Amino acid sequence: MMVSGVRQNLLMLQPALRTLTHDYNTLKRQVRDFPGLLYETMREARDEFSQVVKHVQDTNAELLSKYRRELYLRKECHNQLVRLRGNIRVLARVRPITSEDGIGAGAQNVITFDQDDDGILHVTHKGKMQTFELDKVFPPGTTQDEVFEEVSPLITSCLDGYNICLLAYGQTGSGKTYSMEGTVANPGINQRALRLLLSEVSERSSSWEHHLSVSMAEIYNETLRDLLGSDYHSSLDIKMAPGGAGELYVPGLTQRSVRNMSDINKVLELGRRQRATECTNLNAHSSRSHALLILTVKGRETSTGICTTGKLYLVDLAGSERVSRSGAAGERLREAQCINRSLSALGDVFSALRSQQAHVPYRNSKLTYLLQEALSRDGKALLLLQVSPVEQNVNESLCSLRFGDRVRSVELGIPSRKIEQAGATVTESSESESPSPRGTRTTSVRKKLPASVRQRIGPP
Ligand SMILES: Nc1ncnc2c1ncn2[C@@H]1O[C@H](COP(=O)(O)OP(=O)(O)OP(=O)(O)O)[C@@H](O)[C@H]1O
Ligand SMILES: [Mg+2]
Repeated sequence: MMVSGVRQNLLMLQPALRTLTHDYNTLKRQVRDFPGLLYETMREARDEFSQVVKHVQDTNAELLSKYRRELYLRKECHNQLVRLRGNIRVLARVRPITSEDGIGAGAQNVITFDQDDDGILHVTHKGKMQTFELDKVFPPGTTQDEVFEEVSPLITSCLDGYNICLLAYGQTGSGKTYSMEGTVANPGINQRALRLLLSEVSERSSSWEHHLSVSMAEIYNETLRDLLGSDYHSSLDIKMAPGGAGELYVPGLTQRSVRNMSDINKVLELGRRQRATECTNLNAHSSRSHALLILTVKGRETSTGICTTGKLYLVDLAGSERVSRSGAAGERLREAQCINRSLSALGDVFSALRSQQAHVPYRNSKLTYLLQEALSRDGKALLLLQVSPVEQNVNESLCSLRFGDRVRSVELGIPSRKIEQAGATVTESSESESPSPRGTRTTSVRKKLPASVRQRIGPP
């Protein structure tokens, strides 16, 4: 009876056992297949994910390329507008950190750049980032060559009879002299400009005769001195040339003809030796004067007899640092005050031009008076802001950049050049940066003046 009961139970358990065995086998299979399944699912998920990432990347690349194209077009439009309005172009060059910056928090870099826009510069100060937009920004690694390439179209336009002015502005030690003068091995804008003009003159020699002459002057404590003459200590005056055309000249300022590189190097070396340099506790070789390299180009087109005179002013301004910062006293204090006064006179000229005032106070300083023709409606100007990258100079850097920001909105108007033909002086306005004297000119004659003495540096 009991045995039959057990058998009965066993018989009842058999289907359950079969189900269990089946389930067990199914589970075993699933466990065996699981890694493969997992791998497959993960592969599919990864493929899907990669596709999504690729799609996002493609979209990003497309957007970036559209953004860059827009940026490029915007720059082009801006440059066109700058030319049409005769805006002063403002470039900024940030020098590398040097051993003279020392170590520690004060020597930390505070300047960053925009990878996609070469006109943007960010300054971080007290945890806040300020952004400046300029016509072009040169980061610390920029070579002298690259800087020169950017300014060369402006420089060559003096061959076409324009008055051009390029000013290097910034606090002491920010690299003004490095950019303008450079070193023997790596010359700056001054030497490169003269070299370029010589080569352009020789290229145009089949149809034009050109004569290049160089003057070098220094404005020190509001006194204009000749850097190439025998009497460095005598002070020069700026005078209005007779003839009523409102042209300026500097009686007694030496002009040296230059025909080749050897002439150029001799002239530059002589001027460099004369330049007054003094020490402040900010820069051991601080230049305490404004140095001007003035190039006059007289041209004559052989077939037509048309004559042009262009003038190029390359100016290495004295440091724009505030008096309190340089720790100056006595004679150094007087120098610093004179520098500050003439730089603020420069600022006033820019302000008057910006707000299109009828009276522009050029005569408030020797510097602005001398540069009047280039800083007026008939000239073309470019400001090269020199910027130190380190924390201890951040306030001065911000001052320079704000100054540049204001200058950028100055509109000089469409530049014009004066040409002489058959005894009459004609003023032409042109909308192109550097029209070829051989090519067709898209110019319009603005006004005709009677035969007049051309503006010159040297005796009338
Ligand atoms: N782009 C640069 N690359 C390498 N060194 C540089 C650069 N710019 C400036 N320097 C170095 O920084 C130092 C200061 O430069 P520089 O004398 O040109 O300043 P500055 O603005 O003319 O000063 P100051 O107003 O006192 O005359 C120099 O030792 C110079 O060689
Ligand atoms: Mg200097």
